[in-house]
Order: sequence, then C-alpha cells, then structure tokens
Amino acid sequence: MGPKRHLSRLLPYLFALGALLLAGCAGAGEKLLQNPMDPAGPVLREQLKLLNLTLWFTGLIGVIVAVVSIYVVLRFRQKPGQEKVVPKQVEGNTKLEIAWTLIPIIILSIVAVPTVQVAFWLSNTPKDAMKVRAIGNQWWFAFEYEEQGFVEGNELIVPVNKPVLVTLESNDVIHSFWIPQLAGKVDMIPNRKNTLWFSAEKEGLYYGQCAEFCGLQHAKMRFRVRVVSQAHFDQFVADRKAPYKAPTDAVAKKGEEIFSQKCVNCHNIDGFSGKGKIGPNLSSMGSRASIGAGILPNETQYLKEWVANPWTYKEGIKMPPGFGLKPEEVDAVVVYLQSLKAGPSK
Ligand code: CUA
Repeated sequence: MGPKRHLSRLLPYLFALGALLLAGCAGAGEKLLQNPMDPAGPVLREQLKLLNLTLWFTGLIGVIVAVVSIYVVLRFRQKPGQEKVVPKQVEGNTKLEIAWTLIPIIILSIVAVPTVQVAFWLSNTPKDAMKVRAIGNQWWFAFEYEEQGFVEGNELIVPVNKPVLVTLESNDVIHSFWIPQLAGKVDMIPNRKNTLWFSAEKEGLYYGQCAEFCGLQHAKMRFRVRVVSQAHFDQFVADRKAPYKAPTDAVAKKGEEIFSQKCVNCHNIDGFSGKGKIGPNLSSMGSRASIGAGILPNETQYLKEWVANPWTYKEGIKMPPGFGLKPEEVDAVVVYLQSLKAGPSK
C-alpha cells in the first residue's frame, strides 16, 4: 500500500478536523455575542465552573481512551506476511471489573459535590430580584414587567447588577430561553411555569435566542437584553408609564392613523390602542435595538421593508405579507413607530 493510498484514507478525517477548527474561528478581536464561555454575570460564572470541571474529567478520559485505542490497534494489528491469530478468549476479570466500576463512581462523586452546591445556590433567588414574565410565542418573546405593570416585546431592559427573576411560559409550543452570556438555557413549556434568574455585571446589549426547535422560524426567534444604569432604567419605566402622547409631526400623525386602522388588532401601543396581543407590544419601538425578534437592526430602511412585507425576512409569521400599504403609507407608519420612545435618548 503506497503512501498515496494512506493519504486518501485520511482525507475525510482531515476535512472533518478542518471544519471543526473553522467552526471555532472568529475574526481576530471580534467579540462573540453568544459565547457561553464568556460570562457576564454570576449565574453563568457558577455554571461555567461546573462545565469546566466536567470538561477536564471527560477530556482526560477521552485522551486516555484514544491513546490506548491507538496503541492497541498499532501493537496488535496483523502485520504483513503474518498469519491470522485469534487472541486468547477471556471471560470475566474481577480486578478489571471492580476497577471500571469504582473509578466512575469516584469521578461522579467528585463532580456531584460542586454540582449539588451550585444547584442549591441557583435555586436561592436573591430576595431583591426584579420579577419579569417571559412568554414565548411563535416566533418572538413578550416580557411582562410584573411590578412596573407593562409589557415589552423582544427586548428585556434591566438595570446593571440587579438580579432578575424570569418566569418562563409559552403561548403555543415548547421554546427555550437562553441568554448565552448570562445564564444557561431553560425551557418555556405551555401550561407550566419554569424560572431562572440572572444578573448582569456590565452595561451593554446581550443576545438572547430561543434554544428549542419550535417551527419554521426557530432560528430567527431571538431577543436582546439591554443592561443599563439604574437611572436609565428608572427613566425608561417612567416613560413607559407616562400617558400616551399623540404625535405632533404631520407624517407621524398620518402613520398613527394608518396604524389604528391596520395594526391595532395585533399590536398594542399602551394608552393608544386596545388589546392587540397577537404580535409584540410596540410602545417603545423607536428605542429598540432590533426588529422582527432580534433579526434586523432597528434602522429606517429595514423597518420600512419589514412593515411593507415581513415575509421577506421571516416567512410564515402571523403578520401577513404585503398589507397593501402604499410606499408613502409605509413611510408614515415607520415615522410613527420611530417616534415611540422610552428611556434617555442615545
Ligand atoms: Cu422558539 Cu425555537
């Protein structure tokens, strides 16, 4: 067998290795916004300790098994010209059996101690935690601020260093709530209330993602967690609770009128429109970072495209494609939505 033949046998493995290495690549200095190995708060940090501990043990076992396997394959293979030998058959080896029963017991016991500690620590939600209900919908998130008494869509604004207790629910199928840099994922199950808590140590925008396959647009079911100063948060809450201010700008006024005809059955704007709960509450749309449950930046062009036909970016959602709005009507709705702000301006 020539060296060429060996190489061709190895090729698939080389490709697989290459693909793995590439998958781990990020541009130099690029910040990974969904990196669960980069904790931004105490909850994920504790969970990561467990992950690392388990990784060390399983990694070590993996290496030992691989090395022994390779050694056995090389040492006991049938060499060229050698006759086929059937190895001596062994049935039962008490010492070995005791060893491979005891060693896993010891390893699992070592891992169990910190696991149980962390599990107890996690179940002990800080008493001053702010309470939020997160409700999963195909394919977006509603966030109800229980103490403050309003609902946000797809963006969870919280004060820095403030523990937040999230009750997880679902309106339809099973979703999973995941903020990779802040806490491990927990399922959102219909007719059931799960909880998790987190606290973020640094102001900024964190990415959230549904982590349970929930239909066509599962991959585009995302959200943002905006961590802000306490002052920013207080201002945001005050703005959200303030009475509705009708737009004064003529174009925005036109947008408001179109909105009241076409959009209010599904979308709420607090103090203005009624009971639309089929789509996200849009009361602070002008201040949000993203559109369409975290899939597009909240910029004028994207917002226009979204209002005109959301199926361009997210096929199958409940908001129908092409409302029959004329381009200038789309523009007016967008100007109106952008005028709906809460919190200090950037
Ligand atoms: Cu919701 Cu995946």
